[in-house]
Amino acid sequence: MERPIRIALTKGRLEKDTVGLFESLGFDCTAVRDKGRKLILPIPDGNMEVVLAKANDVITYVEHGVCDLGVVGKDTIMEMRGKFFEMVDLGFGRCKFALAAKKGTDFYSGYGIKTIATKYPNVARTFFEKKGMDTEIIKIEGSVELAPLLELADGIVDIVETGTTLKENGLEVIEDVAPISARLIANTVSLKMRQAEIEKLIKMIEEKLR
Ligand code: PRP
Repeated sequence: MERPIRIALTKGRLEKDTVGLFESLGFDCTAVRDKGRKLILPIPDGNMEVVLAKANDVITYVEHGVCDLGVVGKDTIMEMRGKFFEMVDLGFGRCKFALAAKKGTDFYSGYGIKTIATKYPNVARTFFEKKGMDTEIIKIEGSVELAPLLELADGIVDIVETGTTLKENGLEVIEDVAPISARLIANTVSLKMRQAEIEKLIKMIEEKLR
């Protein structure tokens, strides 16, 4: 038998939601649930193997073909881009990219170049380029909401889920940038070499999601 289909999952919530989805398809995910500190776990009855990784690394492993499939947020896909196929919108992990600023700010007024803080510089740059707006983008690693509060930036481009973080820090959405949800991605070569197995899995997923 060929090696199991290797699927990289983004550790954390997307991992849990994917395991839930696989179990609803009838796969035994006990090894993933009881993983301890192990990073490669078998799903024997599906001839699959789960690899647990950080979001950016899911894309790297799939691009290089060491994992056939991956589950990763559209946020990471939009920021990293790369050479792989986006196969299915899995529907979970829903949130959005939004431009936000201090409450009551007339963000688009004035002529000066706006400074934008973000964990997603490519997403932010593309958003403002489409508007023909010149901006200075500053990369921040986390808790981006701090940047306008500390007067480092006029606005932020960040993930908004419930809106609580913005609200509790006196910020508000100026404009939605893009909707986000988890996607199943596939390595381009795997899709040819393991076509039947991958298509079968995707069909099962799509039928379940319907
Ligand atoms: C994300 C995001 C926001 C927050 C949004 O941060 O960057 O800060 O969640 O969620 P909410 O709209 O439900 O409040 P995360 O918790 O991943 O931490 P980080 O900012 O340190 O990356």
